[in-house]
Amino acid sequence: MKTICTMARKGGSGKTTVAVALALTWQRSGKRVLLLDSDPQRSSWAYLHSRTQPGLDVRTTVSGKLFTTKAAAEREGYDILVVDTPAHPEADVSVALTISDYVLVVARPTFLDLAAAAQAIGHLNQIDRPGAIVLNQAPPQRFGEDAPQVRKAKKALQATHLPLIGVLCARRVYQEGLEKGTFASGWGIGSCPQEFERLFALVNSKIGLRPVLPAADSMAFVSP
Ligand SMILES: Nc1ncnc2c1ncn2[C@@H]1O[C@H](COP(=O)(O)OP(=O)(O)OP(=O)(O)O)[C@@H](O)[C@H]1O
Ligand SMILES: [Mg+2]
Repeated sequence: MKTICTMARKGGSGKTTVAVALALTWQRSGKRVLLLDSDPQRSSWAYLHSRTQPGLDVRTTVSGKLFTTKAAAEREGYDILVVDTPAHPEADVSVALTISDYVLVVARPTFLDLAAAAQAIGHLNQIDRPGAIVLNQAPPQRFGEDAPQVRKAKKALQATHLPLIGVLCARRVYQEGLEKGTFASGWGIGSCPQEFERLFALVNSKIGLRPVLPAADSMAFVSP
């Protein structure tokens, strides 16, 4: 079983959105996925329970129980465990990092998010876990060029020596698909933003998985 977690010191950067979107996409590709919500706000839990279709297994836990929850998931035959963490000080997310094969630090391309990301990355390095940065809620490219905010963020992140694995734009599909409980069914090739397909493929190659997304069905990708 592979374990992935999303982290950020800054609230609202997109930890839950990225965790849920990855988990749903793995599920679409036929993997047995457990999404573990270790955030007392229970956002993942709320997202998944607002869905209209059955699907992803999601459980809540607290950081003190992560080891045992992971062991149980392994026994139950899950292929992938996705852990959504709170924007709390490191002590609370340390266990999630420790049990993870790969950590995604999620940050918006803003000064405050990047400063917080640098601190989170320092912590990640101390624990010595592999991982990468996802820039989220970014302004879109124009004429094939990154927006100035994204260019600046990329430059600032170079100093952290943690690779940037993806840039996700601010798009309605990331918000509404989860809220309406629709996009899991339509989240296949041709239905999800290319930037997310790329992120999904890269994360898989980092953890040694090669899932195949099925063709999209009736639900179309809603552009921003
Ligand atoms: N790429 C995106 N495009 C548009 N909206 C987004 C995107 N990513 C996240 N959001 C929205 O931003 C808000 C915060 O996202 P999310 O809950 O995933 O952040 P979080 O880091 O988990 O927050 P918290 O620290 O409270 O746990 C949500 O309303 C979500 O729908
Ligand atoms: Mg969250």
